[in-house]
Amino acid sequence: MATLVRNAPESNVPENKASDEAKADFLPLNGTDYVEFYVGNARQAAYFYRTAFGMKLVAYSGPETGQRDRASYVVQQGKIRFVLTTALRSDSEIAKHVEKHGDGVHAIALWVDDAASAWRETTSRGARSVQEPTESSDEDGRVVRSSIAAYGDTLHTFVERKNYSGTFLPGFRAMPEDTVARPVGLLHIDHIVGNVGWNAMNEWVDFYSHVMGFSLYQHFDDNDISTEYSALMSKVMANSSGYVKFPINEPAEGRRKSQIEEYLDFYNGPGVQHMALATHDILATVSQMQRQGVKFLTIPHSYYTELQERVGKIDEPIEELERLGILVDRDNEGYMLQIFSQPVQDRPTVFFEIIQRKGSRSFGKGNFKALFEAIEREQDARGNL
Ligand code: FE2
Repeated sequence: MATLVRNAPESNVPENKASDEAKADFLPLNGTDYVEFYVGNARQAAYFYRTAFGMKLVAYSGPETGQRDRASYVVQQGKIRFVLTTALRSDSEIAKHVEKHGDGVHAIALWVDDAASAWRETTSRGARSVQEPTESSDEDGRVVRSSIAAYGDTLHTFVERKNYSGTFLPGFRAMPEDTVARPVGLLHIDHIVGNVGWNAMNEWVDFYSHVMGFSLYQHFDDNDISTEYSALMSKVMANSSGYVKFPINEPAEGRRKSQIEEYLDFYNGPGVQHMALATHDILATVSQMQRQGVKFLTIPHSYYTELQERVGKIDEPIEELERLGILVDRDNEGYMLQIFSQPVQDRPTVFFEIIQRKGSRSFGKGNFKALFEAIEREQDARGNL
């Protein structure tokens, strides 16, 4: 059978992590600070993340707090923090973003100790500045933020909050204990995946390498995605601490229309495709999310009849995994369990992955065939295959 995925042109990114770590990290990151979505209706989006994903509403800013053009709801579970922002007027950048992309990720904010240095180091290496280091303050202290452009209309915002003790950011009002939220055990963001255009993957791999000091993650699944089902190429970039991992996908010619191409069509360009959220107990987390209305991709029975043979002994009962549609993959360090949601808005764009790692640091390459067949069934149902 012919391999239908083109070989990506060679990137000149070093793969040797050890030699990379020997260099001083010019962009030390403490982790992801928040992810900001621009949405059509932030109040209702917040309700979805509170009731379905179990995140707590912790802060708000809007007309009542002196914000004239937007309303933002901050929801949180574990270390995962989403900001859901909507435009109050049509003539704003937020409204334009939503008109072009539908609901989607506007900014991936990274937690740093020095937002001015992060901005200087990245812009001096070629990043396009979106916001120079800017200080804001209230009675809880001060925060410095700066932003650079990433793929499409997506930004990276650097957040320095070492002199701030408030709930979120100056200008936000803390909310009382959320009695609507139904937490499901989500802990932190494992990785955030970007979809970029045809043949653009290596350009963005180079951006994360040269501009942000990331390296190609040693557990990337690159060549393993070359099946007739995948029709995508992917490389995983990680920062030196490994806290921040950004896989980058580009579409590839395949047997059918690439799922990445479908995304690019409906998002109107590059953007965040999915975010993987970690849990210590995927069976409990996914059971509850399903009860709370989150729809996941369904996996064929045949996947589970072959599972034991493929991954060996695992702690979780296979019937339970099948009932929930959870996938399993093993590498030489251990195994991991993962499941993918359906898109969380009407456009077939952003979705979520729930992941539990038991030793494995990979991204589930053994699941691609089963997974992509499932995605193709959904694409087909939408008439986009
Ligand atoms: Fe993923």
